[in-house]
Amino acid sequence: MDLAGRLAAGIRAAVERVPEAAAFLADWPVGGVRRAQVPVALPVCRWLAGMAGGLAGMVAAHAGALEWRQTYGGADFGPAFLERYGWTEVVGLRGPIPSERVAAGFLLLGPDVTYPAHAHEAEEVYLPLSGLAWWQKGEAWRQVAPLTPIHHPGWVPHAMRTEAEPLLALYLWRGGDLAAKSVILG
Ligand SMILES: [Fe+2]
Repeated sequence: MDLAGRLAAGIRAAVERVPEAAAFLADWPVGGVRRAQVPVALPVCRWLAGMAGGLAGMVAAHAGALEWRQTYGGADFGPAFLERYGWTEVVGLRGPIPSERVAAGFLLLGPDVTYPAHAHEAEEVYLPLSGLAWWQKGEAWRQVAPLTPIHHPGWVPHAMRTEAEPLLALYLWRGGDLAAKSVILG
């Protein structure tokens, strides 16, 4: 199995017992079609070093083969944010496994960074894989340990904040425009 296939299988396995993920898995693409990717590294990728074991370890080991992207520009949250933020898509409109119904990939945040409140039409599930971070859904902030699922229905405001540890989390998106930029609230 190629890297995209192994990452997609790892994502599926990680969320197969998460009730909120069932609808995403029902829409999962079938078949071995692949979209060509151009590997792109970002400054945030430096914080993958030291992540070992499981799906986080697989992402860290193969980060150099992945196309890391940013939805935001310097005018959104400032240039410091862009040094500590990035994501890579495995399934969706842009990643190596095409799908128009569901998107899945990995979000990476460096330490001591706030991803301010934002919202989007798509329904979303996050599963943190590495790093103890703070997550806000609506008004309430809570500290979330790895492998604790987080569900955001469409248009629910949410935010994240890291402290000493970088955060790697898998994400699932479905509904609405899968490539839409979030509405910034914070
Ligand atoms: Fe989100």
